[in-house]
Amino acid sequence: MSHIPENTNIPRHVAVIMDGNGRWAKKRLMPRVMGHKRGLDTLEEMCRVCSNLGVAYLTVFAFSTENWRRPEEEVSFLMGLFLSALDKKVKKMHANGLRVKVIGERSHFSQAIQDGIVAAEELTKNNKGLTLTIAADYGGKWDIVQAANQLIREGKTEITQEDLSAKLMLAEAPEPDLFIRTGGETRISNFMLWQMAYAEFYFTDVLWPDFNETEIKKAFASFTQRERRFGRTSEQLPIEQQRP
Ligand code: FPP
Repeated sequence: MSHIPENTNIPRHVAVIMDGNGRWAKKRLMPRVMGHKRGLDTLEEMCRVCSNLGVAYLTVFAFSTENWRRPEEEVSFLMGLFLSALDKKVKKMHANGLRVKVIGERSHFSQAIQDGIVAAEELTKNNKGLTLTIAADYGGKWDIVQAANQLIREGKTEITQEDLSAKLMLAEAPEPDLFIRTGGETRISNFMLWQMAYAEFYFTDVLWPDFNETEIKKAFASFTQRERRFGRTSEQLPIEQQRP
């Protein structure tokens, strides 16, 4: 790894798989897509909470390279939600000083979405608040391969970890300190595979639309209790970072 981050109580970078939207809706006898709509409200709320708590980067998995396999009407609803979020929600985020970025293979999205992404990033690029990164048509394996391909195009025949890291999506951000997955599954599901090499993992059964300030504070409390050694022994850590 390129550097050992300082241990802090509040993670600088939080990565989230927002799982459980469909089940949330099903439990309420609503169509699955209503869960996604509520999930977007939860995301907005989490931006507010994370900003207030001092998180610098929040990265969320909104649509994986595999999600195209979902029923056509669900994919189409998600695309509509994304498009409207890029307009309305991003305006609010901009007013609150957030920076918005999107990572993933943009070319599969409609021109309107691609234009919306460029506009959202442009509008918010000089903001100094929390950076919200939306992973859309993203996959961790895809990210590593696109980085390797950039290096090949540059003529590299042998590469270092630093070379590859520098070409990954989100290269300018610190690697995630904390990975949260809601909805009871305990998989990484091809999210940021390389960047999460040293992330602490937190899993909860709470469904994403029910996730709230209390729940994220539980995740942060769990994070605070962990002893992050980055390969060192416990005794090598500063006293205040050693577990009793
Ligand atoms: C997983 O829940 C969730 C998704 C595949 C989509 C996540 C999208 C949002 C939260 C909408 C907001 C984001 C943007 C940027 C528009 P699931 O449907 O797999 O839930 P299930 O496991 O209960 O079926």
